[in-house]
Amino acid sequence: MLVHLIAGARPNFMKVAPIHRAAVAAGLEARLIHTGQHYDPAMSQVFLDELGLPAPHRHLEVGSGSHAEVTARALERLEKVFQEERPDWVLVVGDVNSTLAGALAAVKLGLRCAHVEAGLRSGDRAMPEELNRLATDAVCDLLLVSEPAGLANLRREGKPDKVVRLVGNTMIDTLDRFLPAARARQTRARFGLPERGFALCTLHRPSNVDDPAELAALVARLQRVAARLPVVFPVHPRTRARLAGAGMAPPRRTDAGSAGAMQASPLQLIDPLGYLDFVSLMADARVVLTDSGGIQEETTALGVPCLTLRDNTERPITVDEGTNQLVGAGGERLEPALDELLSGRARPGRRPALWDGHAAERIVAELVNA
Ligand code: UD1
Repeated sequence: MLVHLIAGARPNFMKVAPIHRAAVAAGLEARLIHTGQHYDPAMSQVFLDELGLPAPHRHLEVGSGSHAEVTARALERLEKVFQEERPDWVLVVGDVNSTLAGALAAVKLGLRCAHVEAGLRSGDRAMPEELNRLATDAVCDLLLVSEPAGLANLRREGKPDKVVRLVGNTMIDTLDRFLPAARARQTRARFGLPERGFALCTLHRPSNVDDPAELAALVARLQRVAARLPVVFPVHPRTRARLAGAGMAPPRRTDAGSAGAMQASPLQLIDPLGYLDFVSLMADARVVLTDSGGIQEETTALGVPCLTLRDNTERPITVDEGTNQLVGAGGERLEPALDELLSGRARPGRRPALWDGHAAERIVAELVNA
């Protein structure tokens, strides 16, 4: 059985890596197709290297552009690959533009397509990812769900039960596998950050970074947070560009890998980190401030408090059972939530069912048995 695994942007690699491993272990021929939506080494290659993924079977170099441009280039180039190789299954993950392109290209050729992380809905159609989720789930043949809300959403949208499966979370498969290696890097110590005494921040959503005045207010808010506990902020290229546009470009700085490489400043803006360094910091943080989807899940699995700078989440289990709390776009409720947390009133949270490190094996079993 030939399976094409489609990945294009940073959060895809942690999701496909365990599926690739489980597929190979089950005797399937699994080929990684990289659309090239993310292309900076720090956004792509470092993840392939650290997660033990093979060099992509095909690299389609679609690069950046408008949503339509990126999706259209991926659609066109994936169609050619699928026509040449006629895989038995195409597997797409998450909600990025490459996900939608892969699903559409596959099903229009009559190929079976499975969506990993199906059924998540923020209800916010202003998010490009929400439109990608809706459109991908509308066309896929097998919908592989990571949390119960996904089942309810798909049922409400009229999907028959026979195409929907609750399989768990492959991002947590990767987290469990690599946590010991991440901890061994001692990234917190290398950055000179106090144990359980710092905040880790990531922000890249249009709702937080696209408006210059709101971005400036958000940076001021982060500076106030940093006056209370050090904040380390690996800056996504999209955010870097917006900061530069607003005259707040952070200096280009990488972790040289040795103690003292970073200046001890309460708000450290640094280049994007690889997976292991990021997980290492996340596991040791007092709190994580983010607008990412995956980080809401990883902090819940780690039991680390997470304050999400969004008005909604497509991953409600992280709020209901985990350690996540929504503090609004722009972080309007960030400071009171932080007060509460720093005074020791954080909910402990628990790990959701099936976030057990074995989601990828269940996914491969579904592909084989379908
Ligand atoms: C994409 C995903 C988003 C995901 C995020 C994680 C979509 C719709 N969005 O958003 O869901 O959370 O990735 O990172 O697919 N750029 C570089 N180098 C790169 C990649 C991008 O410099 O390797 C710059 C380009 O100027 C590009 C901008 O960053 O225009 C944004 O990249 P893009 O892939 O369009 O969207 P993200 O905001 O990264």
